[in-house]
Amino acid sequence: MTASGTFGYAREFEHLVDLNRLGAIIVKGLSLSPTRGNPPPRIVETSCGMLNAIGLENVGLERFVEDKLPFLQRLKPPIIANIYGKLEEEYMELAARIDDLEGIDAIEVNISCPNVKAGGLAFGVDPTSAYSVVQRVREKTSKPVIVKLTPNVSDITMIARAAEDAGADCLSLINTITGLAIDIETRRPKLANITGGLSGPAIKPVAVRMVWQVAQVAKIPIIGIGGIMSAEDALEFIIAGASAVQIGTANFVNPSVTTDIIDGIVTFLRERDIPGIKTIVGTLDT
Ligand SMILES: Cc1cc2nc3c(=O)[nH]c(=O)nc-3n(C[C@H](O)[C@H](O)[C@H](O)COP(=O)(O)O)c2cc1C
Repeated sequence: MTASGTFGYAREFEHLVDLNRLGAIIVKGLSLSPTRGNPPPRIVETSCGMLNAIGLENVGLERFVEDKLPFLQRLKPPIIANIYGKLEEEYMELAARIDDLEGIDAIEVNISCPNVKAGGLAFGVDPTSAYSVVQRVREKTSKPVIVKLTPNVSDITMIARAAEDAGADCLSLINTITGLAIDIETRRPKLANITGGLSGPAIKPVAVRMVWQVAQVAKIPIIGIGGIMSAEDALEFIIAGASAVQIGTANFVNPSVTTDIIDGIVTFLRERDIPGIKTIVGTLDT
């Protein structure tokens, strides 16, 4: 699957990758109204990764439905809408409106966003607010609900449990890890937003560890995300307990990385006579 925010609305990649071979397409995070995002600079390259502070810029639900959805509906892979809001009510309205849409197969709930009513603390860092927002989204839709977890917590299993108890069908992890890069000449942050989200190979071991931890407590499937650049990286997540993976930052380096990874996994399985990916999910031998 393509990770939200790293593959636009898929049309941008139409000439670079065979979209119909993808497992699923997850679109850029949607809010109720269009969002301009943060001022530039919004991206900084770091060792083995990047920091971004895009600020969830997007066209908003209405324009997404008018301008972007018709193209997506013509594609074979399931389309997953990633949603976020600053209030529970925004998540609820997004879920209710998406529930009525043809051609959206599931909703991924990004709970890494600041909750205005909780003084800006992200929904996903507190089990009570994570439970509450997931439960309210669940009530508004019969489509599968994937809850995307933030790694910026001390114990991700507590949030995973809260999301599952609230009715999530699936968990995806991880979102970006908060970081800071400094220009030593000006002594100013390199990003206008001061901090940003770290992604790419630098976060992979953290993400694999978290998938492994969550897999030990969750009964619902897990989608692994974080720094996957190759089939070997994807297989690490699968052995740790993920049933599927999402590819994010790697799309910026190699736009056809997703299908290369699919081919690489097939080759790995064939060479070892492994009958299917399911047989190795969560088989880490400790
Ligand atoms: C430029 C950029 C934009 C992103 N936008 C979103 C977003 O809108 N919603 C979301 O849930 N995650 C967003 N993410 C997080 C990714 O989907 C993914 O969880 C994270 O980057 C880790 O995976 P990676 O290391 O493969 O990139 C964004 C990441 C990047 C780099």
